[in-house]
Amino acid sequence: MKNKISAVLLCFGKGLRFNNSTPKQFINLNNKPIALYSFETLNLIDEIFEIIVVVEKEYEHFFKSKKILKFVLGGDRRQDSVFNALKALDQTSEYVLIHDSARPFADVESINKVVLEAKEHKAATLGCKAIDLIKRVDNINFNIESLNRNELYAIQTPQVIEKNLLIESYNYVYKNNLTILDDTGAVELLNHKVKIVEGKRENFKITTPFDLKVAQAII
Ligand code: CTP
Ligand code: MG
Repeated sequence: MKNKISAVLLCFGKGLRFNNSTPKQFINLNNKPIALYSFETLNLIDEIFEIIVVVEKEYEHFFKSKKILKFVLGGDRRQDSVFNALKALDQTSEYVLIHDSARPFADVESINKVVLEAKEHKAATLGCKAIDLIKRVDNINFNIESLNRNELYAIQTPQVIEKNLLIESYNYVYKNNLTILDDTGAVELLNHKVKIVEGKRENFKITTPFDLKVAQAII
């Protein structure tokens, strides 16, 4: 069944770890701002009927679409940017797909998969099985324990959540003054299950200058 999906594309934030005067999501990758790669991919997905771009005014002109296009300003933290976008959702929207514009290589096939799982479970995210061995350490870098790799996923976006569940989850976060690092984190707080869909490693997030080199190599 087809549903009405609103997409939220997060293009706010200063990129402290990237540490560049232009925010990382607007650096050119092969003559195109990084944020436009995933914007164009979202435009290919039929069920997405509106795209809410969270962005500073000066970058709005980059985004053109045949779908309904809305611009909202973000906030200090990623969660504040998402919260602002939720206020702009069309009333008729049934699911919300949230994506980090710093992930230029999200592909249509993976996006369709996560949408399908969200329809079944109300909340789903892309992610990749942990590749490195992950250890927990103390504050002066001594090992405490090795974590079981089979239980660990590196979480990506898009994350797709049924609209009412997402709004309820975010209202809970703000009512209780909580911090979350991704959208499924809000859903978890309501003790609602989230399905993880195996994504592709190409859909990594450009976080540091090294990641930009990798993106250039891929292009
Ligand atoms: N983002 C946002 N609003 C914020 C912070 C982040 O819209 N206040 C967006 C970024 O544009 C990015 C995505 O959320 O596409 C993932 O965030 P991250 O990679 O952490 O970006 P920054 O927060 O800008 O970087 P850093 O954490 O290094 O400061
Ligand atoms: Mg951040």
